[in-house]
Amino acid sequence: MASVVFLNGEFLPREEAKLSVDERGFLFGDGIYEVTRVVGGRLFESGRHLKRMWRGARELRLNVTMSSEALIDAHLRLLRENGLTDGEAYVYLQITRGAAPRTHHFPPAGTPVTVYLSATRFLPPDEKRAAGVSAVTYPDYRWSRCDLKTVNLLPAVMAKQHAADHDAFESIFVRGAVLTEGSHTNVFGVLDGELRTYPNSNFVLPGVTRDLVVELAKGLDFPVNETPIYTHEVPQLTELFLTGTTSDVMPIVRLDGAVVGDGVPGPIARQLHEALVARMAEAAPLGAGAR
Ligand SMILES: Cc1ncc(COP(=O)(O)O)c(C=O)c1O
Repeated sequence: MASVVFLNGEFLPREEAKLSVDERGFLFGDGIYEVTRVVGGRLFESGRHLKRMWRGARELRLNVTMSSEALIDAHLRLLRENGLTDGEAYVYLQITRGAAPRTHHFPPAGTPVTVYLSATRFLPPDEKRAAGVSAVTYPDYRWSRCDLKTVNLLPAVMAKQHAADHDAFESIFVRGAVLTEGSHTNVFGVLDGELRTYPNSNFVLPGVTRDLVVELAKGLDFPVNETPIYTHEVPQLTELFLTGTTSDVMPIVRLDGAVVGDGVPGPIARQLHEALVARMAEAAPLGAGAR
């Protein structure tokens, strides 16, 4: 089926969707985005994604005039238009400061933001999860507003390419002496029976999956300590794993070529992944179609 996208209020074939060369997303990376998982035609945790999106819009002073309801309706209609009302998929949302003659400062008041949505079929990487993946470290030279999900993704692009160059699934950023997060994932480790992850702050994205996994872990009585993992602690970790909208819970069995823990996916990552999948199934009972 040909792909349909949403652009500034219109649903249209992908090849007919056109943007101005003055678009500030193109010129400056001046915008934000969200990726929402779709299970059985239902949006998973859309409330958390919207909350993060609105916070980003406020912090960057983007004048988003579409309401949350209108944005959700656009997500759901896009799923129907693309025949994605069953199985798994994800919806990409991008909002930029619109098109205006190039100046660093904001364009004239009243310049409409650009709102773009696309929907894509998705197959969870379950084979990779069963075997566990490799990761590599990469210097975290990003700015200090990593809490904002902006489309300024050059460090993530370079980091992910570094991973690809080393046949690894992900690069993990290292800032000073600690692991912060992956190029498109958050990072958890297990040390002395305790789950460790970087605390939500300006140095990491507050991942929707991260926050959910912290809640699920507490519900399973796993001790959670939101403290960074130091690089010198890596050899002592019994487990290391990633979380993210398109990775779920992904065990890492090698970091920079060294075996992590026993070199196989660990029991805590497995239980947290099962709990996450159960949460998705609750959100989208079998056979449920788009609202
Ligand atoms: C830098 C970064 N950290 C973490 C995540 C995971 O966030 P979420 O679980 O909301 O997908 C992402 C997602 O793209 C990301 O880009």
